[in-house]
Order: sequence, then structure tokens, then C-alpha cells
Amino acid sequence: MRIVLLGPPGSGKGTQAARLSESLGIAHLSTGDILRSAVAAKTPVGLRAAQIIQRGNLVPDSVVISVIADRIEQPDCSSGFILDGFPRTIAQAEGLDELLKGRGILLDAVVELTVDEGALIARIEGRARETGGARADDNPETVRRRLEVYRSRTTPVSAYYRAQGQLHGVDGMLPIDEVTKEIGEVLGGVELQRTALQNG
Ligand code: AP5
Repeated sequence: MRIVLLGPPGSGKGTQAARLSESLGIAHLSTGDILRSAVAAKTPVGLRAAQIIQRGNLVPDSVVISVIADRIEQPDCSSGFILDGFPRTIAQAEGLDELLKGRGILLDAVVELTVDEGALIARIEGRARETGGARADDNPETVRRRLEVYRSRTTPVSAYYRAQGQLHGVDGMLPIDEVTKEIGEVLGGVELQRTALQNG
């Protein structure tokens, strides 16, 4: 399966994508993780991205589209992948459409996790405490900026997929296991629909 997981910072994308990757045996592609590794390794992409991430802004579309284009060519993506944190702008969503079209593959589903803003902030604060503030962007000022950027740049991406009939909302306020179960039900429904279409 090829799945996009959408949701604001702290909504549980990384948590759920890791579980889905394990249960479905597909690759977990997190642009946030890829960029943080690039920053740690001081690659040209990392050097360009470090300050942008620290300020809570978005890395340029062309950079992340090219990162994903390279990544989906890897053998571990041949049986499918889950995109966590990409696409985050309309230009990235259009870029992804082009990439997939060029390879003759389709997205199976876009799952959006919805979570109240107060809970998002509390979760990120919790993670910062647990990890001793390991992420440079998990401080209150940057979290506010990440949420603003999500509202202005990424909310339109939900509308983009809704218009294509691909968007499935899941209540991300539920406990972690319940969210996993709800996503499983959504994907089960998508699979059934696909089988029915194939069988005419
Ligand atoms: P990225 O790494 O993608 O961060 P994010 O979207 O801000 O999301 P988070 O990792 O903070 O949260 P999450 O939704 O994965 O939640 P998690 O599972 O960790 O991006 C970081 C930066 O990189 C961006 O700001 C940007 O600069 C750059 N970037 C990345 N992608 C880009 C792109 N495509 N274009 C341009 N720039 C890009 O959970 C959070 C916490 O909540 C955890 O402690 C978890 O245990 C807990 N939790 C999870 N689910 C639940 C639940 N149901 N109930 C209670 N607690 C829960």
C-alpha cells in the first residue's frame, strides 16, 4: 500500500506510521527524520535545512520533493510506503502526483489525524521532557510557529485530497491503540473497495 499520513505537529503521525510500517511490512518515510539525519550528518541538504527546522519553517519544496523522489526508488519501497510529514504544501502534493504518475503507481489512501491544539502542545512538551529536549524545534516558540505554518501551508493539502475523494479523517485524540485500530479500519475499507473495483 501507498499511504499519506497527514496531521499537525504532535498529532501522532510518527507513532502511527511506525506501527503501520511494522504491521503492513512497508517502508516508513518521514521527511522530518530524513532531514534531521541530514542535519546531524552535515550534508549539503542538512546544512541548508538546519536553521529552517529550528525556526519551525518549511524546507523548500524542491528539496523535499527531490529527497522523496530518491527515497521511493530504494528497494524497500517496492512493496509500498507510508509518507509521514510529506506532502506539506500544495506544490509538494502536486510534485508527489507527478512522481507517482511517472512510475505508474497510485496512492491508496490519505489518512488525516485530527487533534485539538491544546493537546498537541501538551504532547510536544511531554516529548521534550521525555527526550531531554532532544529536538531543536520542540521549544514553545518554535512549536507555535510550526502550528501556524501547518494552518497556513498544510491545511490546503487536506482540501486537495478531499477534492480527490482520497481523504479519510481519524480522531487522533483517542488513545494510541484506538487510533491504530481506526486507521486499520480505514485501510481495510480501502482494500475492500479496491478489490470490488478490480472484480468489476
Ligand atoms: P516533522 O518531523 O515531520 O515534525 P511534525 O510534523 O512537526 O510532527 P512531530 O514529529 O512533532 O509529531 P508527530 O505528528 O509525528 O507525532 P508523534 O508521533 O511524534 O517535521 C519537523 C520539521 O522538519 C518541520 O517543522 C519542517 O521544518 C521540516 N520538514 C519536515 N517535513 C517537511 C516537508 N515535507 N516540507 C518542508 N519541511 C519539512 O507524537 C508526539 C507525542 O505525542 C509523542 O510523545 C507520542 O508518544 C505522543 N502521542 C502520539 N499519539 C498519541 C495519542 N493518540 N495520545 C496521546 N499521546 C500521543
